[in-house]
Amino acid sequence: MNYIGSKHKLSSFIFETVTETCGKDLSQKVFCDLFAGTGIVGRNFRPHVKQVIANDVEYYSYVLNRNYIGNYFEFEYQNLLDELNALKGNKGFIFENYSEAGKAGRNYFTSENGQKIDAVRLQIEHWKKSKTISEDQYFFLLASLLESADKVANTASVYGAYLKHIKNSAAKPLIIKAAKIQKNLFSDGLANQENRVFQKDANQQIKEIEGDILYLDPPYNARQYGANYHLLNTIAKYDTFVPKGKTGLRDYYKSDWCKTGEVLKSFEELIENAQFKYIFLSYNNEGLMSQEQVQSVMERFGKYSLKTKKYQRFKADKTENRNHKASETFEYLHILEKSP
Ligand SMILES: C[S@@+](CC[C@H](N)C(=O)[O-])C[C@H]1O[C@@H](n2cnc3c(N)ncnc32)[C@H](O)[C@@H]1O
Repeated sequence: MNYIGSKHKLSSFIFETVTETCGKDLSQKVFCDLFAGTGIVGRNFRPHVKQVIANDVEYYSYVLNRNYIGNYFEFEYQNLLDELNALKGNKGFIFENYSEAGKAGRNYFTSENGQKIDAVRLQIEHWKKSKTISEDQYFFLLASLLESADKVANTASVYGAYLKHIKNSAAKPLIIKAAKIQKNLFSDGLANQENRVFQKDANQQIKEIEGDILYLDPPYNARQYGANYHLLNTIAKYDTFVPKGKTGLRDYYKSDWCKTGEVLKSFEELIENAQFKYIFLSYNNEGLMSQEQVQSVMERFGKYSLKTKKYQRFKADKTENRNHKASETFEYLHILEKSP
């Protein structure tokens, strides 16, 4: 998934820095990804650690992580996907409010794909209610729907707006593909791993967990994820509400990490409450907190160091000049070895 702040491209930088700091053998370590997003960081660490704890305040992220981190794939799924892909469309909530031909005229999906999303989402819920599928299968299917629907969304990148005309990738018919982990978990001996997945505000969640390695990847700026990815929450929750305005926004969570006046306080409080020996914070040079501010907080709690990497960040605004100097971003990985 093309996600703001995704660490997909920085995976090896993060992994190398963590192993340089904590040692190559992570097999007895509990690793926590507290702002997990797409779950890509936890997924990369999963084969190497004793346990992964994943958390994010957004429900769509919970769904993805509940699948990628929480599932072990002891179940059959191809027959379920085949059934979903064979369904006839249904003119439901997504079709009416978020597709080309719906009454609201919001071009987020083609008319066919909007109807398909409704049909698939209703079938998944029906299977859950009739106990045809397990909880693991439920989240696997929801994650598969979110990933597949995102591929045919008619947006420039995020769901803050839709495009006027249907773009090529959005014109393709929706096909639900498996959102699964490629690794054979059984041959890796990971079937016994007891991973935990949560959906809470990070500053609450941190008080309820402990472990060895804490990875923090909070939002950098004022753009709230709940607003930018509202449609993923709407498909995942499939609840009833009145979509607001031109973009069909729903009520969304307003994170303190996106507020200039609140972020430093939240950061200090989180570091203070963290019961982890090693803490890594990804942040960039365009963030609400400066490198110096982060450093001065971390230094109060133990041994601090910093890794820097030049990085072309994901741009939501395609009209921005990519060659402009301002688009060059430095990605920081702040490291704290917390004093006992
Ligand atoms: C930079 S993104 C994380 C990206 C992730 N590492 C990845 O590679 O996909 C920040 C994440 O923090 C989440 N978030 C924002 N405020 C939060 C809060 N107060 N508590 C927990 N999660 C929060 C957002 O929903 C978003 O998924």
